[in-house]
Amino acid sequence: MMQSKSKYDNLIIYYFSGTGNAKNASLWISNIAKEYGIETQLINIDRFETIEKPDVKEKNLFGFCSPTHGFNLPPITLQFINQFPKVDNADVFLLNTRGGLKLSTLFIPGLSGLAQILPALILRAKGFKVVGMQPLALPSNWLILHPGLKEKVVNSIYKRCHIIVDNFATKLITGRKSYKALLSLPIDILLIPIALGYYFIGRFFLAKTLIASSSCNKCNKCIEQCPVNAISIVNDRPFWTYKCESCMRCVNQCNERAIETMHSFASVIILISSMIISPLLIALLKYFAVWEIVNQSTITKGVWSVIDALIFILFTFLGYRIIHFLMRYNFVNKVITYSSLSFYNFWRRYKAPKY
Ligand SMILES: Cc1cc2nc3c(=O)[nH]c(=O)nc-3n(C[C@H](O)[C@H](O)[C@H](O)COP(=O)(O)O)c2cc1C
Repeated sequence: MMQSKSKYDNLIIYYFSGTGNAKNASLWISNIAKEYGIETQLINIDRFETIEKPDVKEKNLFGFCSPTHGFNLPPITLQFINQFPKVDNADVFLLNTRGGLKLSTLFIPGLSGLAQILPALILRAKGFKVVGMQPLALPSNWLILHPGLKEKVVNSIYKRCHIIVDNFATKLITGRKSYKALLSLPIDILLIPIALGYYFIGRFFLAKTLIASSSCNKCNKCIEQCPVNAISIVNDRPFWTYKCESCMRCVNQCNERAIETMHSFASVIILISSMIISPLLIALLKYFAVWEIVNQSTITKGVWSVIDALIFILFTFLGYRIIHFLMRYNFVNKVITYSSLSFYNFWRRYKAPKY
């Protein structure tokens, strides 16, 4: 039952969603808007190339919904917001879905980091007035790190979040402001260095842990569904390029459960780089008597850390190429598959409930 009048005539929500959480949150908001007679438009930003200049009317509300990736927005959403045309004083809200868990009866929210602060600043600079900032702890889909949650837990988290979103949407539509995201501002600020580090770790390491096993039937669904065109065919098998944002859509949508996270490969790369390559290089630098110089100041130490990281990235790149090539051999394929935790049934895939 509507109690007050809407402040807006039009609602335009731009959303990106790897596995459906941000899409569902966008749908909930648009449903509330429709109840108030607001014309709504939901725009999926998958594979966007150009951004049409929106028709900014006086009573427009804009929204941007996206998951949180590595304590920040995923690059696709950040690029979209960054390239969004300037407007003349329009209202906007931000909603970032993040990873929620549930322990017994306790809901545990994930962490947003830069996922609200950064887009809010960019949009402010583009002439928007930020009227709502809402984090939303929907079920975590970070399947590289953990198995998907059980259906019962997913449904329970969903029920709670639906109420939160309905309240948020009603508030905005009736002209009130809501800045729930600012409650965690001190923690979010502390997470900024990790968010910046993740930008490289996610792209140059985590995305390179995905591989198609022998269960792959070459249906190409992963390639067609990828929101950033990151999967190509190399040596007749899917190959995850550096465009991959690890959004988990491919992993969750594969009907054959053929996409694995190579936990063994990841562990070996980390072990070899930290216990063999780095110490070997240090020994070499010591041999040539330059280690003392490297270790002298914070600047040279910093340069050394960058070199160390670059070697790790190079090593991952070469390792991934080699494993990808060797996956054609049944023996290697089996070793990689069986040593991936994601192969086992307890490592559930995650699909958001359909609305
Ligand atoms: C690569 C990756 C990184 C993630 N990083 C975070 C994070 O930093 N903080 C968090 O709370 N959740 C994180 N998550 C969980 C997702 O943000 C969360 O599950 C989100 O609701 C997924 O939305 P979607 O289904 O629309 O993609 C991450 C998930 C992935 C796949």
